Amino acid sequence: MSIFRTKNLDAMIAAGAKPGGLKKVLGPTDLVLMGIGAIVGTGIFVLTGTGAVTAGPALTISFVVAALACCFAALCYAEFASTVPVAGSIYTYSYATLGELVAWMIGWDLLLEYGLATSTVAVGWSGYFQSLMSGFGLALPDALSAAPGAREGVETLFNLPAFLIMMVLTGMLSLGMRESARANNVMVVIKIAVVLLFIAVGVGHVKPDNWQPFMPFGAGSVMSAAALVFFAFIGFDAVTSAAEEVKNPARDLPIGIIGSLVVCAILYVVVAAIMTGIVPYMDFKGVDHPVSLALQVAGENWVAGFVDLAAILGMSTVILVMAYGQTRILFAMSRDGLLPGKLSTVHPKYGTPFFATWLVGIIFGLIAALVPLNVLAELVNIGTLAAFTLVSVAVIVLRKKRPDLPRAFRCPAVPLVPILAIIFCLALMSFLSWHTWVAFGVWLAIGVAVYFGYARKRSLLNKAG
Ligand code: ALA
Repeated sequence: MSIFRTKNLDAMIAAGAKPGGLKKVLGPTDLVLMGIGAIVGTGIFVLTGTGAVTAGPALTISFVVAALACCFAALCYAEFASTVPVAGSIYTYSYATLGELVAWMIGWDLLLEYGLATSTVAVGWSGYFQSLMSGFGLALPDALSAAPGAREGVETLFNLPAFLIMMVLTGMLSLGMRESARANNVMVVIKIAVVLLFIAVGVGHVKPDNWQPFMPFGAGSVMSAAALVFFAFIGFDAVTSAAEEVKNPARDLPIGIIGSLVVCAILYVVVAAIMTGIVPYMDFKGVDHPVSLALQVAGENWVAGFVDLAAILGMSTVILVMAYGQTRILFAMSRDGLLPGKLSTVHPKYGTPFFATWLVGIIFGLIAALVPLNVLAELVNIGTLAAFTLVSVAVIVLRKKRPDLPRAFRCPAVPLVPILAIIFCLALMSFLSWHTWVAFGVWLAIGVAVYFGYARKRSLLNKAG
């Protein structure tokens, strides 16, 4: 059955080590910073407000639940990433293990996840940017300030700042990985410094009374908030899609994935505890700058201003890494013949997939300009949770099919850890709304149609035999 054909794993590992492809420039520090760059963003700066209103001070528990789901999945990712260091993230790994159709569907799912994540974060960026500008008395005309239907009672047409930030970052990525990684590193350091500043300044203003009642709406609300703030952890998997550009993938990839995840989990739990300790949780209703609001309530207006600025920088790095991950998945799918070859042409001077970078930058820039944030965010979560579930299945399958394969990093306690990852991800998915499930189903159905109508015949595996 051709839909179950797999790529030759050993040939792929050898090909990934061959010179002449993407430039190998990234080390472990770049990867941890890249991970943090992808992780700390809209989730912590915007969604914590809704999370606090949903779960109360028990939002800290929601962050722990979401972090556990990611942690189990991250251990599975790390095993794959250190075994098969080729561009394309779990798309590539599943091609070697679960067969072409599943690989295609995962790739298709990841295009949605990364693409819509860039759009979602660009919309969050635009909100913070406009708020900062309004501090200087500058405002855009309503029509250019948000997507159609984004604000009740206001006629909005096009989110211009969201579109423009997508174009600027796409330009940076298309000019070369090394330069983008450097710019990313600087922005990530600023972002982490400001989050630490928030913790240092905020902790003195906590009133433990605000933590009572701790779980006002019950355990179900904690899970609903976890399904939402899960968004805050999305991004560590983007590190794996850089595999082919890493100097020493066997060692550096696991460090990059797990290191960035652990750092962020600790930061989030502490930030959530401090925020809900300063401000009574119901006061976050309708607030889209919850972190800086907490500082304003505490009377720390200067620090609040810094947080706004860092949020803008922080969200830029998230967009950068997500857009990067997406173009590399396109690159891999195109190189395998499943998508048009133009998407894997490398620019002779910049060494980047120039055409693919601009193509997706413009498409998802337009989506950011035209679709409201709430519609985008849940879809990103469901796509990501589905991908995490599949990678966990794949770890178990690969251990059975290829026990002999050298694994620089081994996921501990297989199959227990992958099974826990699957259970956590499915549980979180069950707390997402039914429209999200329907939209996700439609996207997957289109994927099946494109596979049978185009990709299956054009696949290089098909030509090979
Ligand atoms: N984790 C990323 C964010 O919160 C997607 O913005």
